[in-house]
Amino acid sequence: MSLLRTKTITPHAVTGLRRCLTATDLTLLGIGCIIGAGIFVLTGIAAATHAGPAIVLSYVVAGLACAFAALSYAELSSSIGGCGSAYGYAYASVGELPAWIIGWALILEYGVATATVAIGWSGYFTNALQAVGLHLPPALLHAPHEGGLINLPAAAIVGLLAILLVAGARESARFNAVMVLVKVLAIALFIGIASFHVEPAHWTPFMPFGWGGVMTGAATIFFAYIGFDAVSTAADEAVNPQRDVPIGILASLAICTAIYIVVAGLLTGVAHYDTLNNPSPVAQVLLGLGYKWASALIAAGAIAGLTTVMLVLFFGLTRIFLAMSTDGLLPPALSRVNPKTQTPVRVILASAVLIAGIAGFTPIGQVAELTNIGTLAAFTMVCLGVIVARRTRPELPRPFRVPFYPLLPVLGMIACLALMLSLPAATWQRFGLWMLLGLAVYFLYARRRSHLGRPSWPCATPSASANDLPGRGGDSLVFPHNVAQGTPGAAAEERGA
Ligand code: ALA
Repeated sequence: MSLLRTKTITPHAVTGLRRCLTATDLTLLGIGCIIGAGIFVLTGIAAATHAGPAIVLSYVVAGLACAFAALSYAELSSSIGGCGSAYGYAYASVGELPAWIIGWALILEYGVATATVAIGWSGYFTNALQAVGLHLPPALLHAPHEGGLINLPAAAIVGLLAILLVAGARESARFNAVMVLVKVLAIALFIGIASFHVEPAHWTPFMPFGWGGVMTGAATIFFAYIGFDAVSTAADEAVNPQRDVPIGILASLAICTAIYIVVAGLLTGVAHYDTLNNPSPVAQVLLGLGYKWASALIAAGAIAGLTTVMLVLFFGLTRIFLAMSTDGLLPPALSRVNPKTQTPVRVILASAVLIAGIAGFTPIGQVAELTNIGTLAAFTMVCLGVIVARRTRPELPRPFRVPFYPLLPVLGMIACLALMLSLPAATWQRFGLWMLLGLAVYFLYARRRSHLGRPSWPCATPSASANDLPGRGGDSLVFPHNVAQGTPGAAAEERGA
């Protein structure tokens, strides 16, 4: 069935992208993407409105679902690998249509999340400007639906991050590492101060909204965990992807889970949960304790945190677009990698226009929960992908294997589906509309343009070598990323040398 056609598995394909990221870089990328609006904003809101002090349990539940998914990501990235993350794994193991559906869900995840975080960043940044006496005209701070012209800081930060991503993965990773340090120090400062001001009485009643509240809280703060999966979109830029991508995924998730549980426990221990329903609960709690200077440093940490989240989510979006366009499912013009910067300049700029437009002009903040449902759908498919790949491709080398197979992938699917079911009906409706649009694009465009549909294309013939690549001259490198292990000769031919 052509809807389930699969492509060749080649973890170390030649892509034109520079392999420069180590296991430490990947772990920092993961932490860069994970710690952000979730812990700095949502924890307080979810504790106040859904879970109470039991928000700690919400973090444990969501963390478990993510751990199962992360183990599945780790196995697939070590055995299948390649740019495109969950989309690529599904394309190589389950089939084209499921892969398209995952890719479409990932575009939703990374696109909506980046725009949402950009709007949150704009709020923090504007506050910081005001604190030093600078005031932008209100029309430039609000999108048209809020009575303004454009949310300029939100659009501008996306533009600046695009320049950084064009400069290169190495440069972006260095910037990310510095920013991660700032936000982790801010969180350490909070933990250090808050530990001395806990009043255990605040933890009773522990579960004021019952288990239902814990689950809704988990589905809400699930957003805080999003990002470890973005590590797998950097597989084609990793020096040793089969070893380092699983390390990056699992290490970043483990570190952030520990941080989250401690911060959530302290936040609800220092202040009563019903006082936490505000956009900057972590900073507010310190302010309430009389630590004005620490509160300002936390705000700086939050700005740094939100910046890295956007950077890595934006990076992930470009790599998903790149993979889908390289496979022919999206316009091939997007898949050109600039030979000088070794980055996909076109796809970065196209994504920047899209995200900046959404962040600057639309009410996307109101539908941010779409990110959660899109991500949970992708995680469910990744857990399923492990089971399918073990049956259909048992011969693949698997440097990392999910322990307690098939129990953990099955538990992962159940946990992700349970969290999806805890999301409101309106979110499901919007998600359904997005998926219907995706199916329309697939049947009207992608299916016909897929390289697997062309007999001469190497992806369609598992035995093809990189030397069989169709020549495509021009000033940029254009590589199907899923061809067999590349050779210098193939690369030279592809450059039109
Ligand atoms: N996990 C990221 C955040 O909390 C998306 O901002």
